[in-house]
Amino acid sequence: MRNILILNGPNLNLLGEREPEVYGTMTLAQLNSKLAAHARKRGGVVRARQSNHEGELIDILHAHRKWADGIVFNPGAYSHYSYALRDAVASILVPTIEVHLSNIKKREAFRRISVIAPACAAQFYGKGIDSYIEALDNLLKPR
Ligand code: DQA
Repeated sequence: MRNILILNGPNLNLLGEREPEVYGTMTLAQLNSKLAAHARKRGGVVRARQSNHEGELIDILHAHRKWADGIVFNPGAYSHYSYALRDAVASILVPTIEVHLSNIKKREAFRRISVIAPACAAQFYGKGIDSYIEALDNLLKPR
């Protein structure tokens, strides 16, 4: 069994009602339950967490550093400017994959940069829930 933390940042608690034309109509609870089912089939067990607060996201990363074998992280808008979150990812020795529902490379200029990506093992974006699925498959692939 491999332990995977699914961590979602600010405003992702409003998935389903937030800008559905960009982020789709699936709620965070629905997303998390689909990811848990997918992970289970591949021998993974998932813990899902969300916070709107930078410090709390850092605390969650620290608290899971011994439990998690991999982390799927959607830092939301923090992706584009939070050096504190980048350092948190770099501080824990857990492979972390950054994900985004939308295609951050084809939206406003400020979204094209992720300061967190260099601390991550990979980045998947622009595929809705499949960005998360790709990250899970990557973390759970047989080694
Ligand atoms: C997002 C993209 C970010 O730019 C934005 O601030 C979000 C969601 C995504 O999943 O597409 O909150 O991370």
